[in-house]
Amino acid sequence: MHNFPKVVNIMEVGPRDGLQNEDFVDTENKISFISDLSLTGLSRIEVTAFVNPKWVPSLADQIEVVRGIKKISGVKYSALVPNIKGYELASKSGIDEIALVISASNSHNKKNINKTTEQALLQYKQIATKAQADNIPFRVYISCAFGCPYEGNISIKSVSEIAKKFIDLGAYQVSISDTIGVGNPIQTFNIIKELTKIIFIDKLALHMHDTRGLALSNILVALDLGVSSFDSAIGGLGGCPYAPGASGNVSTEDLVYMLHSIGIQTGIDLDNLCNVSKKLQKLLGHKFPSKVLSCY
Ligand code: HMG
Ligand code: MG
Repeated sequence: MHNFPKVVNIMEVGPRDGLQNEDFVDTENKISFISDLSLTGLSRIEVTAFVNPKWVPSLADQIEVVRGIKKISGVKYSALVPNIKGYELASKSGIDEIALVISASNSHNKKNINKTTEQALLQYKQIATKAQADNIPFRVYISCAFGCPYEGNISIKSVSEIAKKFIDLGAYQVSISDTIGVGNPIQTFNIIKELTKIIFIDKLALHMHDTRGLALSNILVALDLGVSSFDSAIGGLGGCPYAPGASGNVSTEDLVYMLHSIGIQTGIDLDNLCNVSKKLQKLLGHKFPSKVLSCY
């Protein structure tokens, strides 16, 4: 293995994917957590989601959070958007960029965003047009790309068809998501090989949940194929409330430790990141799954 990129860019999803799965953290503490993250060298942070508060009560303060952030130059602040109403709220909030979410599984789309895949594609086409007119960059999560809690195996063809559609609609990146952490290294290899037949590798990111402990192994395979963008969550927090069996994302501390130790730069200060994680761990009052954090 020696084809690794020299630099990797990380999208920190802790404030969104992490906190959506926790009891409500008050708005001041969320803003202070995001400010702390902004000083660690991270260049992209997903800070909240413009979703229905009845569906995700922990993120009900999305507008106040985005308005309260003291933006740091060099950091892009992103928010998840699942529908047109969410887009309208997000675009007025002052967010720098957005992330759409669609699943490669029709059943998961219905459970997660209350739409079939076809309906979701139609509404995202409208959002893509609006976002381009408003100059708001967008990326897309393709959930359940490695397997679905409702449908089981998902074909690579269905993942690559969706990915191509969104790149054609102007997405700057597709984040291939292992929502329930069932992926393995061979599957990761096959998915990336197939996707890069139709889209450039610099448009690809991986979003790996670490349910079965294979996230870093899968990321290593992706690195060797030249993927240089990954999502992770501080402490290893996270999980989709509408995907039974989903547990935390790969921990940002563990990912940064692995990357730095094999000579890949991230621009992130690991000591600083672990201090932010420890502070949040104290606030949330339970032990985080991150392995590296437990060594600090
Ligand atoms: P819906 O109930 O179908 O929406 O929800 P609706 O259009 O029928 O409207 C019903 C009510 O919701 C109306 O209010 C709307 O105004 C309101 P009422 O008239 O009854 O008072 N509403 C909204 N309110 C605030 N923000 C909105 C919004 N939209 C409608 N955006 C919806 C559809 C998509 C909103 C809902 O299904 C939802 O919020 N889903 C989000 C679920 C979620 O957040 N899941 C976790 C994130 S995805 C994830 O974790 C996976 C990821 O990490 C990648 C991976 O790991 O795979 C990204
Ligand atoms: Mg996720």
